[in-house]
Amino acid sequence: MNQAQSTPAPLLDVRGLRAGYGRAEVLDGLDFSAPAGGVITVIGPNGAGKSTTLNALVGAIPARGSIVFNGQDIGRATLEERVMLGIALVPERRELFGSMTVEDNLLLGGWRQMRRNFPRWRDRIDEVYTRFPRLKERRTQLAGTLSGGERQMLAVGRALMSAPRLLMLDEPSLGLAPLVTREIFTIVEGLRATGVTILLVEQNARAALAVADHGYVLETGQFALHGPAAELASDPRVIDTYLGTGHGSVAPPAATPAPPPPPLAGFATAPA
Ligand SMILES: Nc1ncnc2c1ncn2[C@@H]1O[C@H](COP(=O)(O)OP(=O)(O)O)[C@@H](O)[C@H]1O
Ligand SMILES: [Mg+2]
Repeated sequence: MNQAQSTPAPLLDVRGLRAGYGRAEVLDGLDFSAPAGGVITVIGPNGAGKSTTLNALVGAIPARGSIVFNGQDIGRATLEERVMLGIALVPERRELFGSMTVEDNLLLGGWRQMRRNFPRWRDRIDEVYTRFPRLKERRTQLAGTLSGGERQMLAVGRALMSAPRLLMLDEPSLGLAPLVTREIFTIVEGLRATGVTILLVEQNARAALAVADHGYVLETGQFALHGPAAELASDPRVIDTYLGTGHGSVAPPAATPAPPPPPLAGFATAPA
């Protein structure tokens, strides 16, 4: 058996990814890939460029380098085209419409399917309700009245409405209590069983490495380390910086602290 047979072809293959905001470059040439059906995680401190990476992949901000998805170079595709090709992002701020019902928020995620292939969207929403019975119970409730965990479920459910092949989750545990965080990671594990490829971005390194196959440690726009998730979880450098009580970084520290990012254009701007 040769190497090509034993290694599944990557669904996503990224080389030399550079992106930033205006003249400020944030990502300094990232190389990574996600095998089809696998879970990869990007961990790293606040301001390292994790969200920027996802925003560049989905096409919300301009990027340089090569992004090959399912064998196709999508570097010049628009955000909408990338969604149509099967890339979905659950953004860090969830970006739900708080004054709309749970079901309307879901339908918004599937509107392309509704237009293209009318009967299918009903199947999709039923699948989402089967996966998240709590969303079905709350289908007529306003999204703004949901708990934090339910909002995250709704944000994931909305992303699933477009039947993605690559699901990108930006800090799904952010702001959630430990028990709810555990529930969200159980959901991620359940999604993996459906065959969808997952790119998980987290500051909660312990939980992320427990669910992922492969991990990348991002520090100020560069990968300081990467490897099988289990190896990273037992790497003293990762333990000291991300899993223990230690402070510092795997790579030399950044020169300047990062200012908080303003909202991104290109996504819905009415958070629940
Ligand atoms: N919309 C934006 N405009 C300008 N700078 C931004 C914007 N979003 C993020 N940044 C900056 O880019 C860097 C990386 O941010 P980000 O990707 O959000 O980090 P992370 O998700 O790892 O916390 C930070 O210095 C941040 O201040
Ligand atoms: Mg972020």
